[in-house]
Amino acid sequence: MALTLRETVLQLFTEADTYLSGEDISHALGCTRTAVWKHISELRRLGYVFDAKPRKGYRLIERPDVLVPEEIKSFNRAQQIGQAIRYVDSTVSTQHMAHEWAQEGARHGSLVIADEQTGGKGRLGRMWYSPPGSGIWMSFILKPHLPLTHTPHLTLIFSVAVARALRKETAADVTIKWPNDIFVEGRKVCGILTEVRAEADRIHYAVAGVGINVHFHSEDLPQTIRTSAISLSEIVEKPLHRAQIVAACCGEIEDLLNVYERQSFSPIKSLWESYALMLGKQVTVHTAEGTRSGEAIGLDDRGALLLKTPSGIEHIFSADVDLNT
Ligand code: BTN
Repeated sequence: MALTLRETVLQLFTEADTYLSGEDISHALGCTRTAVWKHISELRRLGYVFDAKPRKGYRLIERPDVLVPEEIKSFNRAQQIGQAIRYVDSTVSTQHMAHEWAQEGARHGSLVIADEQTGGKGRLGRMWYSPPGSGIWMSFILKPHLPLTHTPHLTLIFSVAVARALRKETAADVTIKWPNDIFVEGRKVCGILTEVRAEADRIHYAVAGVGINVHFHSEDLPQTIRTSAISLSEIVEKPLHRAQIVAACCGEIEDLLNVYERQSFSPIKSLWESYALMLGKQVTVHTAEGTRSGEAIGLDDRGALLLKTPSGIEHIFSADVDLNT
């Protein structure tokens, strides 16, 4: 997808990592020096800091921690995922916006992202705490050619992809709690919510919502999640740049969707199991049919959790799972 001039200016500075003259940029872009200067002024207004030196030009020396499309795109290596982006400062839920966009005809990989959600949605009808400037609240629109029964695979692909991106970006010991909660130090740092619209048993489109806690402190959280949630900045010493994390997620999601298309679920299953928090452990499973305990022994080919109980092996498709202490 073609970049806007401002996105291209930012990409040039990101790639160059040195001084660029107004003339060099205007040549590269085929626009006037006045137009270049206007884009640099606009970027400054958004919080980008440029050093300007006579005869040398401009150098980008500081980037704001913003989620605007040009910032994400300047780091995103994926060809499809996160190439079309709708960003808003605040919305009820990026899931709602993504469904609207999908119905308007959004292309595969389109991304909706917000700095704040006022009615963030979690799994099983729960709310998702999404204050401004504190996290990454994003929804991906996917148009896979898959039967509806393969929906759990998409969810598991997303949990592995986000786990890998967070490991790369933070070096934290990130694990996955079935089906798709991302945990660090025994607390939840990210949740994923997959919603599917189907036509005649095939997926028409899916919206995969990803919420990553980045900047808040546990003591600022609502009482109900204060001890169970954690944010990346509580774990990682270095400053975190949300757009870079989003771009890393886009890259990993694209890679794993390609692996899945070529080799089906088997490699995804192995990766998921290598990150799993509870394999080989005793867990308690709460489903609509009731509660039971057993050993989590792996995934089946449909993505269900295999639970070894005294009465045999159960295949769990939808549940809340607690690790027994
Ligand atoms: C969970 O319960 O663990 C899933 C949480 C999913 C939260 C994300 S934040 C972005 C997207 N928009 C929403 O309203 N929910 C998802």
